[in-house]
Amino acid sequence: TVIEAPEEDYELGEHSDFMHKEMHEQVEAVDRCTRGRLDDAAATARLDGLRLEPRDCRKIQRVTFVGCGSAYYAGQIGANLVEELARIPADAEPASEFRYRNPIVDPDTLYVAVSQSGETHDTLAAVRELQRKGATVVGAVNNASSSIARACGAGVFLHAGPEVSVAATKSFTTMVVAFALMGLKLGRVRDLPAARAERLIGALRQLPGQIETVLKQEDHITAIVRRYRDARHLFYVGRVRGWPVAREGAQKLKEISYLHAEAYQAGELKHGPLALITPQMPTVAVIPDDDLLPRNISTVEEIKARGGPVIAVTSADLPAGLCDEVIRVPSGEPQLDPLLSSVALQVFAWAWAKELGREVDRPRNLAKSVTVE
Ligand code: G6P
Repeated sequence: TVIEAPEEDYELGEHSDFMHKEMHEQVEAVDRCTRGRLDDAAATARLDGLRLEPRDCRKIQRVTFVGCGSAYYAGQIGANLVEELARIPADAEPASEFRYRNPIVDPDTLYVAVSQSGETHDTLAAVRELQRKGATVVGAVNNASSSIARACGAGVFLHAGPEVSVAATKSFTTMVVAFALMGLKLGRVRDLPAARAERLIGALRQLPGQIETVLKQEDHITAIVRRYRDARHLFYVGRVRGWPVAREGAQKLKEISYLHAEAYQAGELKHGPLALITPQMPTVAVIPDDDLLPRNISTVEEIKARGGPVIAVTSADLPAGLCDEVIRVPSGEPQLDPLLSSVALQVFAWAWAKELGREVDRPRNLAKSVTVE
């Protein structure tokens, strides 16, 4: 189904820019993305557009997500979700690399082409390469009438609504929701217990309210940004669940504020980048409330010991005084933590861009959709 966009989608209303408007529309968008797709009776997700019967799902030996930019990072979160929920090996790769390395295409792999616009040239070319080699490719696309949606023929529509600002916001979060649903569907034909699936379904229903809670912290986040206004370089660190969140967060800051931000797996810091830690180099640490909390706390301590300020984005109760700044995100199912932390980092990047007087919706040198090679 193609959803016609109402006129007001292209009007700013009370917002200063489209990115701000679209961050706030995530509450609705995430709700729309799950609507009619949560099957309480069978504790699974209904994704008929994928055209995968249980028997087909059982045959899948690997899931590979391909996309560019934010769509690629969303795919990385998707790979984590699929591995965790379905215990099927999963990975993500930038579409631009994928198509140039003569990929080994496995008939038992499910490929997921991820794209808001459905028109990104590299992603479309990857789809064509995959199809030429006989692979099964489904789309995770926002624009239902786009080239990638048409090329794939099957997939899951994001229902994010039109996204105007160059920086992906609601398309990113709905991608993550779509991948949680895929993980549920694939998990439930394998070993995901009904009770765990029910908990995840409950958590998905809570997301809109939790996103609202994160967005309400705009003033708090802006105050933090002001305290670090002179910084020109930032690290973003995370491990496992937190790693793609750190990458997407750093990407957003680069795109719209033009600050230099670099994402690292927290455990890799000590293998080089620690040399760069100084009081002038803040680190954004993504710390979900999961089994890796003690490891993440040690990472913060390593940075603090070298005089680096730490801004935590966390759903955990951190020891008092551990970090210089804390941006709290609601805790719930740890699998969905990346979505809420990403929303907090959107607000963080937006606040920084505003503080520096950047034109957030139309950053220099970038296009909303890159339809050329
Ligand atoms: C461009 C945009 C990014 C976006 C990427 C993929 O580079 O500036 O924000 O993530 O394209 O776009 P897509 O429409 O395929 O999701």
